[in-house]
Amino acid sequence: MRPAPAPGGATPGEAAGGGAGPGPGGGGRDRPGTAPAVHPDTHPGLPAAGRDSGLLGKRIAGYLVEEEIGRGGMAVVYRAFDVKLERTVALKLLAPELARNDTFRKRFAHESRVAAAIDHPHIVPVFEAGETEGVLYIAMRFVPGQDLRALLDREGPLPPVTAGRIATQVASALDAAHAHDLVHRDVKPGNILVAEGTDRDHPEHVYLTDFGLTKKSLSLTGFTTVGQFVGTLDYVAPEQISGKPVDGRCDVYSLACVVFETLTGVPPFRRDDDMALLWAHQYDPPPPLSEERAGLPEAADEVFAVALAKSPEERYGTCLEFVTELRAALARDGRAGGAGGRTSRVRSDVWQPTPPPEPPAWARPVFRSLGP
Ligand SMILES: Nc1ncnc2c1ncn2[C@@H]1O[C@H](COP(=O)(O)OP(=O)(O)OP(=O)(O)O)[C@@H](O)[C@H]1O
Ligand SMILES: [Mg+2]
Repeated sequence: MRPAPAPGGATPGEAAGGGAGPGPGGGGRDRPGTAPAVHPDTHPGLPAAGRDSGLLGKRIAGYLVEEEIGRGGMAVVYRAFDVKLERTVALKLLAPELARNDTFRKRFAHESRVAAAIDHPHIVPVFEAGETEGVLYIAMRFVPGQDLRALLDREGPLPPVTAGRIATQVASALDAAHAHDLVHRDVKPGNILVAEGTDRDHPEHVYLTDFGLTKKSLSLTGFTTVGQFVGTLDYVAPEQISGKPVDGRCDVYSLACVVFETLTGVPPFRRDDDMALLWAHQYDPPPPLSEERAGLPEAADEVFAVALAKSPEERYGTCLEFVTELRAALARDGRAGGAGGRTSRVRSDVWQPTPPPEPPAWARPVFRSLGP
């Protein structure tokens, strides 16, 4: 969402620090085949995506760097060749600023170990995580295809059936992680990789990536100490914003934001500045899905009201519970959709757990009125 300063130079550390790819929604958008979100002219010092950043052909910790495949606010991802095992990998080099942050280092070490231990068909397998020349790196399976951000930018809202299939795969990955006491904390379209599926019944295979790599817990206010933007705030749960302890239900909230966007083309909350967006996550009721995209059943509104509840206690307990309810609601006829569903869980206080204070002028919605 915001440009971040990028150091020049071509050492591994500097090149990793150059990862600052703000696009619509904040994540990296610059995979081959998609338009670069950051124009080098407007961001001097940042090598254009796909251009030689100085690392191509170089060897980093046993990996031969072949091509830049994407970048986000905190890292650059390369296709690389594992010299020892003779296979292609995705090599992610994290910004040097993160290696200098003790909190991040500790969590990086812990969470990459846990993530590497999870063997799940919808979680990108991590092969190795370590540090070389002051740069933290992760070698993982190279997933050919595109991320969900690029897919949505190209195709707009997806058909409900496709959205349901993608949501189910991500939900199963998240629930598996939660069973290992691992909370993702940064579920967003840029962290959902969509590869070709195996057959007509499974047209796409979806992988979730980047466990525990969010910078949001370091600074949710928008900028880290060196002024780099933390990434998109479109999917962040209210309890993450208020700094309360988080559990798997914060991923339920973020997943619901992502699925909302997959179905409508827009995330549930859109405001013209970050403070207003944070306010909306904490206090504003989500707009009904059926108002954002005609033809979607009203029963789905009720499912999102639960999944996007401000208080984690009011949400679904697992991601698969949310997606199962949603797919059942989407399968119903739009006009008849208001009847049935999880009405028992949808109470008036789900929408506004406590009467919210009147929003100040800067927090008022800009795109549409929130009235019924
Ligand atoms: N294992 C992988 N295989 C193939 N491409 C990948 C892989 N991991 C990441 N990518 C690509 O690299 C891009 C950049 O990833 P990165 O995690 O740095 O950024 P992001 O998730 O979009 O944003 P953020 O910095 O906020 O996390 C991703 O959007 C994705 O397209
Ligand atoms: Mg990512």
